Amino acid sequence: MNQSTELLLAATTAAQRGGDILMRYLRDGVEMRAKSHEGAKTYDLVSDADIESENAIAKHLHSKYPTHHLLGEENLHAEADSDNLWIIDPLDGTNNFAHGVLHFGVSIAYYCKGTPIVAAVFNPARDEMYTAIAGGGAFLNGRAIEVSRDGKLSQSLIGCGFYYDRGEMMKKTLAAIESFFAEDIHGIRRFGTASLDLCQVASGQFGGFFEYQLSPWDFAAGALILTEAGGKITTARGDELPIEKTSVLASNGLLHDAMLTITKAHHP
Ligand code: IPD
Ligand code: CA
Ligand code: CA
Ligand code: CA
Repeated sequence: MNQSTELLLAATTAAQRGGDILMRYLRDGVEMRAKSHEGAKTYDLVSDADIESENAIAKHLHSKYPTHHLLGEENLHAEADSDNLWIIDPLDGTNNFAHGVLHFGVSIAYYCKGTPIVAAVFNPARDEMYTAIAGGGAFLNGRAIEVSRDGKLSQSLIGCGFYYDRGEMMKKTLAAIESFFAEDIHGIRRFGTASLDLCQVASGQFGGFFEYQLSPWDFAAGALILTEAGGKITTARGDELPIEKTSVLASNGLLHDAMLTITKAHHP
């Protein structure tokens, strides 16, 4: 097995372990609580499922690669510019999970010196594993996927998300959505799991997706899966994506400029 294949196996195994924990909590019941950091909103939720999934993922990756660094949403605090960096969302779509909506994921990416090398996004409720290795294409359960070929917004379904913000950011997002509708798009979707939104662009379901604030663990894996499927990802202003909190615009490539005109015009 070459090095990238080994890294991907570590990612998918860890994602499976996290996913198993999420499904167990979903079956047995779990108490959701608001995050405890200062200024946290009552609807910014976390649970033992998020924490236990992250612990299991960290344990597996650490056993395989003891010197690597881990950055994850709950308790993994490596610097984003570390070499040999794993970026982890142990439960993406916590709000869906809290309400029994079977659309949540585990997102794991490995970056070396800021460059994505392997990625896995797992939807345990559907047993769907999206994967990519840099330069090797993107896959869903082992079958190659690619972005849609629709070149017009009026032929496309567009995904979006709102950060945990009910103020300016939400207003701008809603204004952008109105502008998309003015282009006669087929529809807007807000499914609530950014990592899977990106995979839905990668597999041709959405022509594009935007959100005005995401964290690295939300997009690190999806970004590689998308570009390996032939898509394009930038900030919502068209800049290169940094590994930090940022706006995100993802598309099949063909729609990027048209989407950018809208997301730029309403950027918070
Ligand atoms: C959230 C989801 C959601 C997006 C939020 C994210 P979490 O992640 O990806 O779709 O709109 O911006 O924070 O908190 O469920 O892991
Ligand atoms: Ca997330
Ligand atoms: Ca999360
Ligand atoms: Ca969260």
